[in-house]
Amino acid sequence: MAGTYHILLVDDEESVTYLLQTEFQEFPEFSVDAAQNGTDAMNLVRSRVYDVALLDIRMPRISGMEVLKFIKEVSPTTQVIMLTAQADMKNAIEATRLGAYDFLGKPYEIDHLLTSVRRALEHRHLLIDKEVSQTSRPIDIIGGSKSLTDTIANARKIAASEAFVLIQGESGTGKELFAQLIHRESGRRHLPFIAVNCAAMPDQLLESELFGHEKGSFTSAIKTKQGLVEVASGGTLFLDEVGDISPLVQPKLLRFLETGEFRRVGGTNSRTVDVRVISATNKNLQEEVRAGRFRDDLLYRLNVVSLRLPPLRERKEDIPLLVEHFLQRKTRTKRIGPGTTEVLTNYDWPGNVRELEHVIEGAIALAHSDVIEPKDLWMNVSLHRQSVEEKPENAPGSIEPESLEEVERRHIEKILRANNWNRAKSAQILGITAKTLYLKIKRYKLIEPSNGQ
Ligand SMILES: Nc1ncnc2c1ncn2[C@@H]1O[C@H](COP(=O)(O)OP(=O)(O)OP(=O)(O)O)[C@@H](O)[C@H]1O
Ligand SMILES: [Mg+2]
Repeated sequence: MAGTYHILLVDDEESVTYLLQTEFQEFPEFSVDAAQNGTDAMNLVRSRVYDVALLDIRMPRISGMEVLKFIKEVSPTTQVIMLTAQADMKNAIEATRLGAYDFLGKPYEIDHLLTSVRRALEHRHLLIDKEVSQTSRPIDIIGGSKSLTDTIANARKIAASEAFVLIQGESGTGKELFAQLIHRESGRRHLPFIAVNCAAMPDQLLESELFGHEKGSFTSAIKTKQGLVEVASGGTLFLDEVGDISPLVQPKLLRFLETGEFRRVGGTNSRTVDVRVISATNKNLQEEVRAGRFRDDLLYRLNVVSLRLPPLRERKEDIPLLVEHFLQRKTRTKRIGPGTTEVLTNYDWPGNVRELEHVIEGAIALAHSDVIEPKDLWMNVSLHRQSVEEKPENAPGSIEPESLEEVERRHIEKILRANNWNRAKSAQILGITAKTLYLKIKRYKLIEPSNGQ
């Protein structure tokens, strides 16, 4: 179920676990497993990720304290609430030292207990989502074009379902933004949204990031580590750049998607966790499958529903709105001058919205007056960020690849020539000091032609 909290209840008195389980059944957001002794409890913790555990302290053979220690080692983000008939200080202090979140005396009132469980869940969420404000900050997806508004409507529909989603789109089209929107509008919104960039790390590291590792499973594994799939428990796991997952990790991911089961690196037993997976790529995965680089069964699993994000050049009417949005975020005084909007809408934006964002930020910094003019726009600077595969050569709007320094060198030379090498005037036009210009002339070995040439 969407946004289900998994609760573990451990008490040696069957009447207690029975009663509590019945009470919890009234709340559909909770799914409760019960154990009557420490051994069963530990086995359950080995096999599934719990959000909160309620532990009786006094139990024969293995005490609640020992189960607490075990949980904190195996699954540190699980929040533990201790229950006991003798609400004495000694136990409370010891339990807190061992990492228990709360401590309740028996007989407990169900309302008390629920409040504590809810607080523990919140605490778990805060621990994981360090940027708390993120949850409350609205997601601004700007644009009024039909293709974008259709995509937003589509994403909202998808959010309501529990299906795995594959978001495809060119670089900078807003894939991560849409993944967040889907999470925020889903039943899992109160649970973590965990993003993993699959392209950013080597195979073994990715596997251990995703699924965790046991102590000593490889040289640098000095401590047992929880995988991000566990941290995301109940929430959404965002697999960014999923097309870059290596053939070594692909079968492990496939197994996880099929069964919800995973195994830590170096671990022997499988555990189950409930997460929704949203993935994103700017690669053409069908083509990757054809080329033998991506498993077709994995693509099939990831792509239960797909969302395609339109490139900015196909929805140019969104450009003025986006420009206004990015301006307002950074400045109160500067505005777009006449002619600038035209230049912005005529350009093809191979780096899509991200490129536009950078160009506007750059223009705010460059503009000398409150009016941003076409000369303040440095589109070609951003061109280096785009992915090469998406831009056919000589496509409209394409520009010779050139380094930023090369552009600067040529621009300085042009200005100097146009001003008869009057350095003071050139520096003023370039918006730099005469000294900086002098240093740049030296650095780029620019030579003033001698008279008569
Ligand atoms: N419609 C939009 N409205 C407002 N901001 C947007 C919109 N689309 C994208 N952005 C902004 O553009 C930037 C790039 O978006 P995002 O990171 O989601 O793109 P992406 O598709 O994941 O790119 P990449 O493939 O390069 O990772 C972000 O700063 C995002 O906030
Ligand atoms: Mg991205």
